[in-house]
Amino acid sequence: MNDLQTVVLAARAAFELAVTPAELENAKAQYLGKSGRITDMMKGMAALSVDEKKTLGAAINLAKQAIEQALNDRRQALAEAELQAQLQAEALDVSLPGRQRGQGGLHPVSLTLERIEAIFGSMGFEVAQGPEIESDWFNFTALNTPEDHPARSMHDTFYVEGGTETAPNLLRTHTSPMQIRHAVQHVKKYRQQVEGTAATGGLFSGAMPEIRVIAPGRTYRVDSDATHSPMFHQCEGLWVGENVSFKDLKYVFTDFCHSFFENDSLVLRFRPSFFPFTEPSAEIDIQFPSGPLAGRWLEVAGSGQVHPNVICNMGLDPERYIGFAFGMGPDRLTMLRYGVNDLRLFFDGDIRFLSQFR
Ligand code: DAH
Repeated sequence: MNDLQTVVLAARAAFELAVTPAELENAKAQYLGKSGRITDMMKGMAALSVDEKKTLGAAINLAKQAIEQALNDRRQALAEAELQAQLQAEALDVSLPGRQRGQGGLHPVSLTLERIEAIFGSMGFEVAQGPEIESDWFNFTALNTPEDHPARSMHDTFYVEGGTETAPNLLRTHTSPMQIRHAVQHVKKYRQQVEGTAATGGLFSGAMPEIRVIAPGRTYRVDSDATHSPMFHQCEGLWVGENVSFKDLKYVFTDFCHSFFENDSLVLRFRPSFFPFTEPSAEIDIQFPSGPLAGRWLEVAGSGQVHPNVICNMGLDPERYIGFAFGMGPDRLTMLRYGVNDLRLFFDGDIRFLSQFR
């Protein structure tokens, strides 16, 4: 092997060893630069004869071309490798599923509450909201519930620390305290219009617009099985005026049930019962004429004529004012409407169940 071939091979090897463009340019300088091997050889020809210059010059040129070729090949290879590395680093995995934005919807019980509000709204009932942490007074005493009533026991009622008889000390066991809260506000407002700010205490027997209100919301009891949840919903209804009677309760609630279930052949039964805050009292049962529940009496609400003691606790004179009240279970109504047989499904938060009601 002659010198030139050795130089070409050495150049190729040096270029191969370069792994960055900067290293490659350094290697290039050693062979093709001003004081590189090839340039040195060119300079070395000065002393030669014309003929010798011709042959050696041609050979050096070939060697130079071979080195330049090797340099370009290596440049291209490095550029290619750099591109590949960059592509690898910035790679996007287009097979990953995208982030989804799920479509939300109202909870089935919320749908029921909206429906109840719309139907009673169309019959002239306002909607009132009240606290879930209540006092003994509003939850029991004002509702004519005696001290020793079993509902007041720890087995049935969640008590909270730090309250008193009149300050919040329990989780309301029903929405009935809203009867008192709402009526007291209503009476106060119209009493001031009649008697001015000098309004005295005692029972109000002046004129005022009727009280017609529903109060939906969460309620709590120490109870848990397929049809009872420690947190559940109720919706209270109250209509107080001068000539409101049991027949008004019957047509209002019948009308409501027909609208709610979109079924005018639904039958209602008012079954005598007892509640401390109503006299007389009735449990309201419904019966579907057809379908899977046909023929069974299903309890949907408690109701009755508001007890005179409760009318007094509203600040009204029971000689002039009378009315009815009812309390129904929106959870139960939702189960009946959609054919759900386990109440707990509503509160498990399983999206597969809930999304069926969207
Ligand atoms: N508060 C009663 C309960 O939770 C239901 C009820 C019964 C409400 C009769 C009423 C009523 O307004 O008049 O069991």
